[in-house]
Amino acid sequence: MKVLSVASECGPFVKTGGLADVVGALPAALAPLGVEMRVLAPGYPAMIAALPDDAEVHELARLPGGRARLLTGQAAGIEAMVLDSPRLFDRPGNPYLGPDGRDWHDNHLRFGALGRLTARIATEGVGGWKPDVVHLHDWQAGLAAVWLRFGRRRAPPSLLTIHNIAFQGLFPAETIVTLRLPKAGFHPEGFEFFGQLGFLKAGLVYADRISTVSPTYARELTDPEFGMGLEGVIEARRAEMHGILNGIDREAWNPESDLHIASRYSAASPAGKDANRVALARRFGLHAAPEAPLFCVVSRLTRQKGLDLLLEALPRLLARGASLALLGSGDPNLESAFREAADQNPERIGVVIGWDEPLAHLMQAGADVILVPSRFEPCGLTQLCGLRYGALPVVARTGGLADTVIDANDAALREGVATGFQFPAGSSAALAEAIDRACDAFANGKVWSAMVGHAMRHPVGWEESAHAYARLYAEMTESAP
Ligand code: ADP
Ligand code: GLC
Repeated sequence: MKVLSVASECGPFVKTGGLADVVGALPAALAPLGVEMRVLAPGYPAMIAALPDDAEVHELARLPGGRARLLTGQAAGIEAMVLDSPRLFDRPGNPYLGPDGRDWHDNHLRFGALGRLTARIATEGVGGWKPDVVHLHDWQAGLAAVWLRFGRRRAPPSLLTIHNIAFQGLFPAETIVTLRLPKAGFHPEGFEFFGQLGFLKAGLVYADRISTVSPTYARELTDPEFGMGLEGVIEARRAEMHGILNGIDREAWNPESDLHIASRYSAASPAGKDANRVALARRFGLHAAPEAPLFCVVSRLTRQKGLDLLLEALPRLLARGASLALLGSGDPNLESAFREAADQNPERIGVVIGWDEPLAHLMQAGADVILVPSRFEPCGLTQLCGLRYGALPVVARTGGLADTVIDANDAALREGVATGFQFPAGSSAALAEAIDRACDAFANGKVWSAMVGHAMRHPVGWEESAHAYARLYAEMTESAP
């Protein structure tokens, strides 16, 4: 089974969030199941630099945005296909935003070119390799589904995975001319979204199957509160919608061998976690009392992540004698509010604004609790890392958070299966209560270490979900006309 996976990010080369982790991890997770996955990504400088010197070069006829080349080769074990168009992608920094923090003015061309090239590879092949299935991720790959559907040549079936419906890729109606899209598709049942061209909507309408990254988010998406205007489209395709949980790379995130942390440990011998706690507290200049938990946050700072709710709940956390280490960046208001909280409580709250992957590992290893108070969360990866590192997750009961953390209610504690704490999403009072519950559990050493043990043994890898994708690809090729 040959699968072309198409995305705007690919770990470890280009990453702004979990999408990159997932796209980078899927090929290795699927290989043992006989799925040969290649990843098509835009040629940002970091992506080009990751290719070997002997990468194959394929000249391409015109794509949106002008002439381009396709480079293919192995990068960090991934069979990569890279759209080399310096005019579109040779830009520093964030893959979507210019130096002014706003979307690049030509994102429709940049990701239109990615979609056009996808359809070309899918129907014509490249270097003798042609996929049986095309797996599109998020809006940046969505338009490919249109060309696959309306193209003259027979196309393989396509799957569109929604990682985050908040980003829809909306552009003015005129762009359909620039991108030479079939005008016949510009209507509410096609790729029109309230008078605009919608890349994600295009994918949702024209891909043969759609999926998202957890069963709960798959259900939530038909609700207007979560569907963000696309709930009707998703409802109409309910029969072809799948919810498949993300995993994490158990090698990259392994407390037994992690070189980014101060001391290595495992579920069987968890003592090394203490040295990480000390190292983490030192790194953030915290006086983390041993009687109360050290909480952490590793997150984009956006409304989605609900960190404004945490600001409101901070007095409770402090009243319980606990401390907090936060790593994140994003919304300038949230950044300054957390900085201010740290200035006011220097020994108890520490904040690092920025992107720092090694530090993210030390935080999971050193913290007692990871807080993920999201308003919505398609899957979420940091709570999975938290489970693996014994940083018990306190999570909002939504999306993948609801599916991966077992709340420490009486029944779960009795059965010995609890791995964290859930609270109703969107409420700072409920978050404060969950923080209280975590503090209470922490005070009972026996309960806490049992929970840490369950958490660290909870399956967070790709095994089960890789099977689910492999089954879905097989089903798609069998039912393809
Ligand atoms: P999202 O994709 O919505 O941001 P996920 O939980 O799926 O959320 O994935 C976030 C990924 O980005 C995780 O791998 C997490 O460790 C990483 N991450 C988030 N913020 C930072 C940061 N400031 N520094 C380093 N890694 C971060
Ligand atoms: C998105 C979502 C996150 C998910 C990630 C990978 O960024 O916000 O919940 O884990 O994609 O699928």
